[in-house]
Amino acid sequence: MKEIIAIVQEINLFGNGYCRLKLSVPTILDINAGQFAMLKPARLFEPLLRRAMAFYQVKVINNTTFVDFIFHILGRGTQALAELRPGDQVEFLGPLGKSFSIAPIQKQDQVLRALIVAGGVGTPAVLILAQELCLKRVETYIFLGARSKDDLIGIDDFSLLPAKLTITTDDGSVGEKGFVTESLEKFLEMQEQNNFVVYTCGPEIMMKRTSEIATSFGLKTYASLEARMACGFGVCVGCVVEIQQSNDFSYQRVCVEGPIFEGSEVVW
Ligand SMILES: Cc1cc2nc3c(=O)[nH]c(=O)nc-3n(C[C@H](O)[C@H](O)[C@H](O)COP(=O)(O)OP(=O)(O)OC[C@H]3O[C@@H](n4cnc5c(N)ncnc54)[C@H](O)[C@@H]3O)c2cc1C
Ligand code: FES
Repeated sequence: MKEIIAIVQEINLFGNGYCRLKLSVPTILDINAGQFAMLKPARLFEPLLRRAMAFYQVKVINNTTFVDFIFHILGRGTQALAELRPGDQVEFLGPLGKSFSIAPIQKQDQVLRALIVAGGVGTPAVLILAQELCLKRVETYIFLGARSKDDLIGIDDFSLLPAKLTITTDDGSVGEKGFVTESLEKFLEMQEQNNFVVYTCGPEIMMKRTSEIATSFGLKTYASLEARMACGFGVCVGCVVEIQQSNDFSYQRVCVEGPIFEGSEVVW
């Protein structure tokens, strides 16, 4: 984890209130799929706290790491980030949190397949995972959902991957009409062999339903949870979620023990 000043390289607004931000960080960072950073414009006192953002793309050139984030402009924190201009300084803390693990796929005797289900602003958190799975030649199916055409994120980047991509929108303006979980369920019903590991990130209701569907087909789900975060590194205990393992319940910090948890263990 590094606390460092990053520099804005590019910033673009798109769609229905979304922003893509590219930063350069003057050091080599080891960033893994599903990890995140805490960001805020430098020398800005309001809002005081950094905001959590999942890494969307990462590239290391010489001794500099270039990182892309995509976020929805919601309130004061994301509005301040969206007003940055190339050359501006950003307080960067990261990488934070645990990463998605593709070990469950690699360690089995039989080769498993991967199913990624993402929705809304959960989509940026799964591009690096999808790239990693494809690089390891894991047969990968990606389901991306959004409310409407202007809420879809990263379709150009996901389309470049050798994975099977299904897009859904609630209003049917692009792809299949309906919730992404409906397409997921239909897809699983049609499979002769349900040998998948499921990864999900998006609205809580979508991840809960994804986990329920996966469990009903005997599959494991790894869900990347969201929580309001103040520190991002385990100190404030403001981001806890209830987790059930065997008959034991515990509170775990999304920023340190997570953000990835096994879906069947989350008390949704
Ligand atoms: C690990 C992690 C990764 C994330 N990655 C991304 C990402 O890649 N792209 C992205 O757009 N967002 C992401 N988020 C969510 C992002 O951090 C929040 O949207 C952001 O903090 C909102 O800040 P704000 O000041 O704009 O809104 P605020 O003024 O703080 O809040 C505006 C409104 O949004 C609600 N809200 C704020 N934060 C959250 C939250 N975390 N969950 C649910 N509702 C919230 C508030 O209740 C309020 O109604 C991530 C969050 C976490 C924890
Ligand atoms: S955000 Fe402070 S402990 Fe998780």
